[in-house]
Amino acid sequence: MLKTIKNLIKKHNITIAAHYYEKDEVFNLANLTGDSLELAKKTSTLNNPLIFCGVKFMGESAKILNPDIPVFMPRLADCSMARMAQEELVKENIKLLKEKNIDFIPITYINSTAKTKAIVARNGGLTCTSSNAKKIIEYALKQNKKIFFLPDKNLGRNIAKMLKITAKIIGEKDFEKADMICFNGHCSVHQLFMPEHVMFYKEKYPDIKIVVHPECSPEVVELADFAGSTSQILNYVKNHPNDKLAIGTEFNFVNRLRKINPNIYILSSTKPQCPSMNETSLKELYELLVSIDKGEEKNKIEVDQKTAEDAKIALQRMMELS
Ligand code: 13P
Ligand code: SF4
Repeated sequence: MLKTIKNLIKKHNITIAAHYYEKDEVFNLANLTGDSLELAKKTSTLNNPLIFCGVKFMGESAKILNPDIPVFMPRLADCSMARMAQEELVKENIKLLKEKNIDFIPITYINSTAKTKAIVARNGGLTCTSSNAKKIIEYALKQNKKIFFLPDKNLGRNIAKMLKITAKIIGEKDFEKADMICFNGHCSVHQLFMPEHVMFYKEKYPDIKIVVHPECSPEVVELADFAGSTSQILNYVKNHPNDKLAIGTEFNFVNRLRKINPNIYILSSTKPQCPSMNETSLKELYELLVSIDKGEEKNKIEVDQKTAEDAKIALQRMMELS
């Protein structure tokens, strides 16, 4: 199977992009890897067919930013956080803010559907990722407007804390007075990390460093020594090859980091695997390549023209700032 995969990749001149959370069997075949921002940037300059191993919003973003190349995914795996911010609910939230005469800029985390990105663009907003969220929010604050941040209430509140601005979840008491109003979404994987896990490791190994993704709750991020995107975590580990580290993010990625630093612990009592990222298998990558070889259009990413045009504006506004 592996030999056929490699031959077909070569035969059709295909780029394989993979996010760090993918299974090793898939990740090891990729020639483009990175965090969400890096993957969006790198795939936007390709001029050959792309197979994206990740979650649907990543494949969609690649197609929107680079509409002239065919983009396929071995599986249309959906990020549960992106699914939380469905079009109708986002529109309802925006309507509520407008009814309350709140002057705001919407900022959507890239972990959102193309339709949500398009709605955000139509309301003057833009996207961000975990690696540039602070920069994008600082830019929006300079417009002297409030921020409507979606879908991740944790990323929003963590950056708000860093920038010393107030943040509330929409519907919370006095939410309209906050500098940042957050949509009530979260990541099902990063919610698994608890302050008691941090305390457990700190008591057991007083010299341990706690490293987390900013999708973790503000209570966990506050106790951590470092919070950053997946690429920023990778760099932190490279710069701390001998320290004891307890890491709060997805298992496949953390387990792979043990090749750089064997003293890595998983910061949770259960295995933090992203169900969506874990759906993509080597067998599915093989099946997709065979179907491409037959001239079929299996799992080809398509975004309707109006949505793609508007979502592209939200993504490009971010790209210009990062
Ligand atoms: P990164 O942008 O840090 O790679 O995060 C993507 C993601 O889905 C984290 O859960
Ligand atoms: Fe979505 Fe969370 Fe999985 Fe990232 S880890 S893709 S935010 S469900």
